Amino acid sequence: MKRGEKAVLLLMTLMVGGVMFRNWWVNDHQTEKDRGIPFYTTASPELTRQGADLYRQQQCRQCHSLWSVRNMMESIPAPALDGIGSLRSEEWFYQYFSAPNPQAILPSRLKAEYRMPSYAALSEDNRQALARYMASLKVQDWYLQETRKAEYEKLTGKDYHP
Ligand code: HEC
Repeated sequence: MKRGEKAVLLLMTLMVGGVMFRNWWVNDHQTEKDRGIPFYTTASPELTRQGADLYRQQQCRQCHSLWSVRNMMESIPAPALDGIGSLRSEEWFYQYFSAPNPQAILPSRLKAEYRMPSYAALSEDNRQALARYMASLKVQDWYLQETRKAEYEKLTGKDYHP
């Protein structure tokens, strides 16, 4: 073997060994099982396609993040939409998207150009589909509880006992 080849082999051995060590370490030292990504959707493939299409066409991504995806060029402090369907109902979303002035439903502290636009001009079908899609974006209970706990403790400095 040439010297270069030996070096490559050594490097590969180190990398494979590193990964194996890491896996062993993580498996042995994790007190809690990795519960995975807490966000999921209950939408049918059809609704997912319809919702995702609308979401793209209407440029929701300009301001919001969903599935951890957002427009990196913008820094508008709009809420993330992951799991939003666990917090609000389809009916609520429908009313919100249909409102000529969404800020009458959800007040805003932002500058006018950053606020949630009205989608009242969208067709009835599209507003319904969007509302159904938003309502399908769920978050696992344990994550919601942990978030609430963290939020409560951050805000009050006290232990959280629900
Ligand atoms: C110009 C930026 C912008 C765009 C585009 C936008 N939003 Fe928003 N959205 C916001 C902001 C900011 C808020 C928080 C309320 C406010 O400040 O008006 C919000 C609030 C929301 C909420 C309520 C979140 C909650 O806390 O309950 C939902 C749902 C939502 N948007 C969905 C959408 C969808 C779906 C689209 C695309 C059809 C969209 N938004 C497009 C900025 C935007």
